[in-house]
Amino acid sequence: MDSTYKRHLITAALPYANGAVHIGHLAGVYIPADVYSRYLRMRGRDVRFICGSDEHGVPITIKARQQNCTPQEIVDKYHLIIKDSFERLGISFDIYSRTSSQIHHKTASDFFRKLYEEGKFIEKESEQYYDEEAKHFLADRYITGTCPKCFAENAYGDQCEKCGSTLSPTELINPKSTLSGNTPVMKKTSHWYLPLDQYEPWLKEWILEGHKEWKVNVYGQCKSWIDGGLQPRAVSRDLDWGVPVPVKGAEGKVLYVWFDAPIGYISNTIELMPNDWELWWKNEETKLVHFIGKDNIVFHCIVFPAMLKAHGDGYILPENVPANEFLNLEGNKISTSRNWAVWLHEYLDEFPGQEDVLRYVLCANAPETKDNDFTWKDFQTRNNSELVGIFGNFVNRAVVLTHKYFEGEVPAPVKNESLDEETLAQIPQIKKNIEDSLENYRFRDALKEAMNLARLGNKYLTETEPWKVIKTDIERVASILNVSLQICANLAIAFEPFMPHTTKKLRYILNMKSSQWEEFGLESILHPGHKINEARLLFDKIEDAAIEFQIAKLEATKEMNQESSQTEASATASSEKLTVKQELAPLKDECTYDEFMKMDIRTATVLEAERVPKTDKLLKLTIDTGLDTRTIVSGIAEYYSPEEMVGKQICILANLAPRKIKGIESNGMILMAKEENGKMRIITPEERLGNGSCIS
Ligand code: MF3
Ligand code: ZN
Repeated sequence: MDSTYKRHLITAALPYANGAVHIGHLAGVYIPADVYSRYLRMRGRDVRFICGSDEHGVPITIKARQQNCTPQEIVDKYHLIIKDSFERLGISFDIYSRTSSQIHHKTASDFFRKLYEEGKFIEKESEQYYDEEAKHFLADRYITGTCPKCFAENAYGDQCEKCGSTLSPTELINPKSTLSGNTPVMKKTSHWYLPLDQYEPWLKEWILEGHKEWKVNVYGQCKSWIDGGLQPRAVSRDLDWGVPVPVKGAEGKVLYVWFDAPIGYISNTIELMPNDWELWWKNEETKLVHFIGKDNIVFHCIVFPAMLKAHGDGYILPENVPANEFLNLEGNKISTSRNWAVWLHEYLDEFPGQEDVLRYVLCANAPETKDNDFTWKDFQTRNNSELVGIFGNFVNRAVVLTHKYFEGEVPAPVKNESLDEETLAQIPQIKKNIEDSLENYRFRDALKEAMNLARLGNKYLTETEPWKVIKTDIERVASILNVSLQICANLAIAFEPFMPHTTKKLRYILNMKSSQWEEFGLESILHPGHKINEARLLFDKIEDAAIEFQIAKLEATKEMNQESSQTEASATASSEKLTVKQELAPLKDECTYDEFMKMDIRTATVLEAERVPKTDKLLKLTIDTGLDTRTIVSGIAEYYSPEEMVGKQICILANLAPRKIKGIESNGMILMAKEENGKMRIITPEERLGNGSCIS
C-alpha cells in the first residue's frame, strides 16, 4: 500500500443539480470512488471523501425557464433528491455540499480575484451571439441550429447530440435563439481567459512525462489535447446565474461553471474542516484522487491543475484521475433529456432493501476500459445466480447447519483434513489480489476476486457435504463448519467496501463487531464457542415480473420519444416553406465579400503521398504550392490511395492556420466536394494550371 502518503483526499465529480443521478453516473464515478474510500478507511488511512452538487451552468437556467421558476428552485429540488439518494445507496461522503453555498461563492470569488490581481488572465473582446429581443447574450446551449457535420436539426451551439460532434455556435447552420426563436446577432463582449498555452510545457512534463501510469484512456486524452495545442480558455460568461465576476465593471458576468465547479472541491473541504483544510490541499503528504467520467477529463487533468498552478500557494495536484468510460442502457446511450436512464431514486423505491444489488451489478459491469452495457436481464442473472445462488446460498447453509448441529456456537476444528488447509490457504492470496486491484483502480477485478471467495466457500461445502457426514462423524462436521464460518467472516470483510448493507447484515448474523481489514485472511476470526445469530437471507431472488416491469417502463419511454420526435419532425416539415432537396446541406449563413477574400485559395500539385501510420483515414501529402513545398494532412485515405494522389493537381486553402494532426503539422486544407452518398472527391482545375494560381 502507498504508505508515503499521510492523507487521502478523494473527490467525486460534482453532479449537476438539474436532474437526478442515474446508473451511468454511479458506475462511472460514485461507486468506484466509494469503494476506494471505504477500502482506504478500513486500512486505517486518514480519508476525506468530498462531493456536492454543481449548481451553476446554463442547463440549469434553461430548465428554470422551461419550468417557469427560478434556478435556485431547480437546484434546491435536485440537490435534495441527489443527496438523499446517495445516502440511501450508502455512498460514504464525508461531506455533500453545494456550489450555491456562501462559502463556495466566497472561495471561488477569492480564487478568481487572486489570479486576476496577479495578472494570470488575459482579457479579450470577442463577438458573441446576442438575442436583441430578449436582451441577452446567448450561451452555447441557448442557440440551436443545423449541425454542420451531420445536418441534424436542433444541434446545440456546443454540441450535436445526434452525431456527438463538439461545435461552436458560429458553426451552426441557421442558428436560432431558444429564448425568442429569433436569429441572433453578433455583439461585442469582453471576457477573461486562462492562457492554457502558457502552461503547455509544464503540463507536458507533469502529465506526459510524469504520469505515464495513468489509465490509457486518460493519458491518451491528455496527450491528444496537449499535442493538439492548448488555447486560452474563457473563464467568464455573460449570464445572470453563477458566481459574479468579482471585478469592477463586470456586471452581468459570472464565472464559467467549469471554473467555479472544481473549486467546489476546495470549498466543500473548507466547509468540512474550516481549520484544517489546508493540510488537505496544500501538503505534499496528501494524495489527491479525482473520480470522474470521461467527459470530464480535460477539466480535471488540464484546466483545474493549470488553475491551481496559476494560483500558487502550494496547492497539490491530483496524483491520479481514474476516469471511466460510459455505461449504456439496453444498448442505447443514457440520456437525461430523453429519459433513457435508470434513476437512482426510482430504483431505491422500487427495489427496497436491494441497494447492494445495484452496487454489485454496476461495479461488476463498470465501464473501466471501454463503454459497457447495462441490461435488466443481466441485472437479474447476476443477482439470482451470483448473489443469491453463490454468496447468499453459501452463508445461509453454513449458518443454518451451525444452528442445527451446534446450537449456534462456532464449533472447534477438531478433525481437519488437507482440503481445509488448502481452502483456507487461498484466502490470503485472494486478499492480496483485492488489494492490488483496488490500489490500481481496477474495481471490477477486485470485486471478482471477492466473489471468488464466496465461490470458494460454496464449493467447499458442496464437496464436504456436512449434511451427509453428520450421520457418521460429528467431529468432522465441526471442522467443516468451522472452516465455513471462517470463510463467512472473511466475506464480511472482503465485501465491506463494495456492499456495506450486506456486510452489516452478515456481521449481525455472525455476531461480529466490525470488519477489520487486518483480520482478513486469518483462519480463526471467529473463535470456538462464539455464539452466532439466526440465519437471515442476505439476498432475495428477483422475479421475472420485476424485470418485466422495468423493461416495460423503458419501452414506454421509447414510445414517447418516438412520438415526440415524429411531432417535431412533422412540425418542422410543415413550417418549411422552402423545400430543399433532402440530402443537400442547407445554405449557410451569408458571408461578406471581405470574409471570402480573406481566404487564400490556390492550385498546387501533390509531390508525395503516404498513409499516416495507425490511422485509416489520413494521408500525409507533400505539395508544391508554387510559393513553397509544404505538408498537408488530409482525411482522404478512404477515397484515394497515396499512389492515385501523386502528381494530381489540387486546390487548397493555403492560409489556414497550421494544425497538428497525429503529431504532424498540417499547413492548409485540400478542397473537396461531398457527394450525396457521402463520398468525397477532390476539386481539380479543368486544365492544368501553374501551381500557386489564385482562385477567387
Ligand atoms: N457537473 C459536472 C458534470 O456532471 C462535473 C463537475 S466536476 C467539478 O459533468 F470538478 F467541476 F466539480
Ligand atoms: Zn451532428
